[in-house]
Amino acid sequence: MSKSAEAAPPRLGVLLAGMGAISTTLIAGVEATRQGLARPFGALTQLAMIAPPGQPKQRVPLAEYLNLTGLEDLAFGGWDINPGNGYDMAVAAGVLEPLLLAAVRPALEKIEPMPGIHDPQYLRRTEGRRVKAETNKYEQAEALRADIRRFKQQHQVDQAVVMWCGSTEVFLPAGPAHQSQRIFEAAMKENEPTIAPSMIYAWAALQEGCGFVNATPTLTVDMPVMIELAKQQGCPVSGKDLKTGQTLLKTILAPGIKQRMLGLAGWFSTNILGNGDGATLDDPAAFRSKEESKLSALNHILQPELYPELYGKLSHQVKINYYPPRGDNKESWDNIDIVGWLGYPMQIKINFLCRDSILAAPLLLDLALLSAAAQRAGESGVLDWLGFYFKSPQTRQGQPEHDLAVQHQNLQQAFHRLAPRLAPVAAKA
Ligand SMILES: NC(=O)c1ccc[n+]([C@@H]2O[C@H](COP(=O)([O-])OP(=O)(O)OC[C@H]3O[C@@H](n4cnc5c(N)ncnc54)[C@H](O)[C@@H]3O)[C@@H](O)[C@H]2O)c1
Repeated sequence: MSKSAEAAPPRLGVLLAGMGAISTTLIAGVEATRQGLARPFGALTQLAMIAPPGQPKQRVPLAEYLNLTGLEDLAFGGWDINPGNGYDMAVAAGVLEPLLLAAVRPALEKIEPMPGIHDPQYLRRTEGRRVKAETNKYEQAEALRADIRRFKQQHQVDQAVVMWCGSTEVFLPAGPAHQSQRIFEAAMKENEPTIAPSMIYAWAALQEGCGFVNATPTLTVDMPVMIELAKQQGCPVSGKDLKTGQTLLKTILAPGIKQRMLGLAGWFSTNILGNGDGATLDDPAAFRSKEESKLSALNHILQPELYPELYGKLSHQVKINYYPPRGDNKESWDNIDIVGWLGYPMQIKINFLCRDSILAAPLLLDLALLSAAAQRAGESGVLDWLGFYFKSPQTRQGQPEHDLAVQHQNLQQAFHRLAPRLAPVAAKA
């Protein structure tokens, strides 16, 4: 069968709840790539090649193998609680150079975020100046559902993915209100305080049959109600907290130290960043969400319960300091105290001068395209194989895998499982 005879992938709507630095860097980057001005480094869906099963010497582009929607067929939209169009927000984010921004300005200016929903209880340092009139949580959810339907109609998309990219909310674990659809719906009507705005976006998205991606550390879809609803609606969910800078390096390095059976006495990580995310995380309650997701990785990789003499006394500390002069150009330092033969101590120092949103944007692109493809292939509920992209991967059950190499294998296995249901490429080759 020729490629033209195959079913073309559908146009895809990507709705971003929170249109700050990571969201606008994604949209601007997709537009710059469409115009041939830049290359989408960091995105597997745009660059990776894969060997179809039984053909180890052949390589096909991953996008073709999974019949992924092309960049020209993506329609972006979203919500924000602060004013400005996509261009204004990209300028305010301060991530991209003026020359590149000028080239993509017309496309960004067309994106006018819809009014969002805000609750200062969950985001204590941000004032909402573009918020919906509804004050009841159930009515807010219904208004978001209407937004999704209108967006799909206006942009003529049958399928849409909603991505939670808003500021980190305060830490909130699942409680009685999050146990079932019936209870959650009644609780929204009662304006139950343990229902955060991000959960209302998630509930609305799933009700409208959209996949949901949680790019932030909050526990938005790690709730029984969301899993139940996702399965019922045939929607995938994934999260949480994009694995970008320091944790990415940690999950590459720590497995190697462990494979060599070297000990670890301490791992001290500190960061300075001056973007909106940094300002939000200056609030200890919001940092608690981040800390939970940042600390978990090492413990899972090192298995101190199995190797107590190597890792039982590890002192692992993570700090983030808001430091405005750096903007989005985060700098991180890691001091790693390792222990070698006969207990002799050694140190590794890492100084990573990264760009937060430049690392995050390609992950968002991959997550949007892969979640949509998985949904078309009939997968719903938690997509744990997307753990490769997250600091604190959501799982169907049990503990998450953190080792980047193992996560990559899991991803490849999922690609092979999905491919026959998505693209005849694998079958025809
Ligand atoms: N930058 C990274 O590398 C990275 C990595 C992992 C996770 N994250 C997470 O992604 C999220 C966004 O990061 P960012 O750097 O773009 O932050 P940002 O501060 O630049 O943008 C957040 C945007 O969300 C909006 N917002 C807040 N609450 C909202 C609500 N209820 N509804 C709609 N909009 C809302 C804000 O007005 C702002 O425009 C943060 O939670 C952050 O922790 C970022």
